[in-house]
Amino acid sequence: MDIAVIGTGYVGLVSGVCFAEVGNNVICVDHDEQKIEKLQNLISPIYEPGIEQLMEKNLNAGRLAFTSDLAQAISQSELIIIAVGTPSLPNGEANLTYIEQAAMEIGKAMNSYKIIATKSTVPVGTNEHIQMIIAMNTMQSFDVVSIPEFLREGSAINDTLHPDRIVLGIENPSLAAPLTELHRSFTDQIFVTSIRSAEMIKYASNAFLATKISFINEISNICEKVGADVTEVAKGMGQDKRIGSSFLSAGIGYGGSCFPKDTDALIQIAGNVDYEFQLLKSVVEVNKSQRYKVITKLEASLGPLSGKSVGIWGLSFKPNTDDIRYAPSIEIVETLIRAGARLKLYDPIAMEKFRERINHPAIQWCENALEAATGANAICLLTDWEEFKAVPLSQLIFVMEQPILIDGRNVFSKEQVQGTGLEYYSVGRPDLIRASRPKALAR
Ligand code: UDX
Repeated sequence: MDIAVIGTGYVGLVSGVCFAEVGNNVICVDHDEQKIEKLQNLISPIYEPGIEQLMEKNLNAGRLAFTSDLAQAISQSELIIIAVGTPSLPNGEANLTYIEQAAMEIGKAMNSYKIIATKSTVPVGTNEHIQMIIAMNTMQSFDVVSIPEFLREGSAINDTLHPDRIVLGIENPSLAAPLTELHRSFTDQIFVTSIRSAEMIKYASNAFLATKISFINEISNICEKVGADVTEVAKGMGQDKRIGSSFLSAGIGYGGSCFPKDTDALIQIAGNVDYEFQLLKSVVEVNKSQRYKVITKLEASLGPLSGKSVGIWGLSFKPNTDDIRYAPSIEIVETLIRAGARLKLYDPIAMEKFRERINHPAIQWCENALEAATGANAICLLTDWEEFKAVPLSQLIFVMEQPILIDGRNVFSKEQVQGTGLEYYSVGRPDLIRASRPKALAR
């Protein structure tokens, strides 16, 4: 199929590259000419393992191109995918400005029948709105469909090439066959439904995953008080197929470009039809407070934080990405600075983005995990990068001022921590604290 993808952010670029990879002719469009020039030179604007290799392969095969000429891209394509951003407005609602602009431009540039597919996450009813905007700007016939995207940053290519399912929101039944065929190279699990249901599936899926995370985080808080181990609890729960084991890792809460934005948007969507989504409101509140548990644990072990040196391991909202949007690290670092702590920050790749966001004299930017630990009164691990799992914990006692490790992601096992001399605090694993606390430091 000849496909144009509008927007070269995470969803647009990865979708475009993957559609080309399975044999389609894809042209990716963006207003930003500098971005297009970089893409043409095989420089990806997003950090995603493997993306540049796939770009190169498909560009060389003549199946992938990048342009800022929207009209040209639309005229030569049968399917036009809208993958522009829908950032949050201050009230939590999705900002549809970019979507509306894309719809208008598509309408103006259409020279024949087109299928227009929305991949951006949009509130229920938005595709009808898009249909109206396009219709106002063209005399050509067209169909609008909703194909929500479920990819995760850091594993976006694999998620797109091998998804659990594809959801096709379609009103014109004649489109089910060609669109199913188009996606069959990815999976046989193709679910055809109405546009409104497809729009809702995306929000409901993200809200449910966010709920699982906040649920296990609250369980972890109780585990700390009753002496249970949340990792064991999650394992035992997850063996029940009705529950499933994924998204039950307790930690400092979720961040990223999707969960915080989409949960807020769904609360708004419900509110707009006079429904108070109480459960989801609590999920959001629990997530906001969970990050501060790190600070509480720090204060409990160090006392007042003013003048103390704290090493931070990990800034991105999760591993394998440089994305710091809504990362819990932002508020943790801001709170520590306000408390008068001196900070030694290290992240394998998100340092630059973080520095653009927060730069303060109290921050020292470090080149590796050990440097961030050197001279520190405590370390807080905020992102579960593989790299941190390989740090030789027994060395920390020699470089740190006080050997305290607050593991916000339960990265280390009891066996790894025992005998290292570290005072170790994790999330929802009280036994581990007692097991690891060296006699000399025990209070
Ligand atoms: C998410 C959805 O998974 C994806 O389907 C959707 O398209 C976009 O939003 P992403 O934001 O890339 O993807 O990250 P994900 O891997 O889902 O993690 C989100 C956040 O939840 C991270 O901050 C992660 O650390 C946290 N998380 C995840 C937990 O705290 N515990 C878990 O068990 C799982």
